[in-house]
Amino acid sequence: AQQRRGYHEKVLDHYNNPRNVGSMQKTDQDVGTGLVGAPACGDVMKLQIRVNKDSGRIDDVVFKTFGCGSAIASSSYLTELVRGMTLDEAGKIKNTDVAKELCLPPVKLHCSMLAEDAIKSAIANYYTKNPNTRATNLSGT
Ligand code: FES
Ligand code: FES
Repeated sequence: AQQRRGYHEKVLDHYNNPRNVGSMQKTDQDVGTGLVGAPACGDVMKLQIRVNKDSGRIDDVVFKTFGCGSAIASSSYLTELVRGMTLDEAGKIKNTDVAKELCLPPVKLHCSMLAEDAIKSAIANYYTKNPNTRATNLSGT
């Protein structure tokens, strides 16, 4: 179809069936919330992670994206990627990892940047709420 031109099928798959759309209680102690915007276009992405205190891993992750198809696909893919990761692992994800998986064209790279910004922001928010967790992680336990 005409409007599909230029979108890779993986983008369309995530766009048509976005994974893990939803919202968590922002005030929960074990939830980190990232809310970021793309200056280039004004699109907005909210990403939330629930962290298991004992394992230090992301137990659950949800998103809401008000943006283009590539931004929605990027956040959907990101939620699949980070589930089960430690915060350190998730913090190392690069937008290029997302862009490569979804075959985003150069003009859509900032859409995947939104996903990288969102997970980093969610992790930072979690550490702000749980400063002791960070100390534990750094000491390698
Ligand atoms: Fe607004 Fe992407 S430019 S939807
Ligand atoms: Fe702006 Fe995709 S996030 S065009």
